[in-house]
Amino acid sequence: EAARKLFAGPVEFLKGVVAMPGLPPADRIEVCFAGRSNVGKSSLINALTGRKAIARASNTPGRTQEINFFTLGDERYLVDLPGYGFANAPVAVVEKWQRLLKQYLSGRPTLRRAFVLIDARHGIKAVDEEIMSLLDSAAVTFQVVLTKADKINATTLEKTLAQTRKRLQNHTAAFPELILTSSEKGDGIPTLRATIAALI
Ligand code: GTP
Ligand code: MG
Repeated sequence: EAARKLFAGPVEFLKGVVAMPGLPPADRIEVCFAGRSNVGKSSLINALTGRKAIARASNTPGRTQEINFFTLGDERYLVDLPGYGFANAPVAVVEKWQRLLKQYLSGRPTLRRAFVLIDARHGIKAVDEEIMSLLDSAAVTFQVVLTKADKINATTLEKTLAQTRKRLQNHTAAFPELILTSSEKGDGIPTLRATIAALI
């Protein structure tokens, strides 16, 4: 019920941030969506908010190039991050986003939870491990969201679930529960909404 109310209310794009001083005041609960380029971060924000294109998604890895803040009601920010790993952009530019991404993930006092998106077909990769270790060090609770559930069969899913659960045991900041989602079909979206609404 709280989730229904929250996500039926206003959602607005606030700003895109390219450097730490541009961050909005840390005055409310914030959750962010991190993950490899193309894993489906922006699409997930669209699915959660029921907007087709409030966050820009595309098949080109490296679409999101700024830290994008969306207001959800008066008390929450949803934060769409640039991806890590391969991106279709010049190396120097990518390095700049990666620095910003790391500064943000380890230095934002109101960041209540980082959702780390993992493609359900591929599982956790070395670059994901690096980000999860950074979150451990910063003591930022993170929760894995498996994406693109509509593209996977039951056998592969079992494999990914087993691998992911095992890997998460090594991370002190990991929230144990996984959420399996499809932004295309809507699987897991109500669960993720409820999780965000329950954070206080
Ligand atoms: P960057 O901003 O480049 O880091 O990517 P991103 O993680 O924001 O990914 P984005 O949401 O732009 O999606 C990348 C591609 O995956 C797009 O072509 C989406 O349509 C597709 N996609 C995202 N989520 C899903 C899903 O649940 N199912 C399917 N089938 N495709 C998806
Ligand atoms: Mg994006």
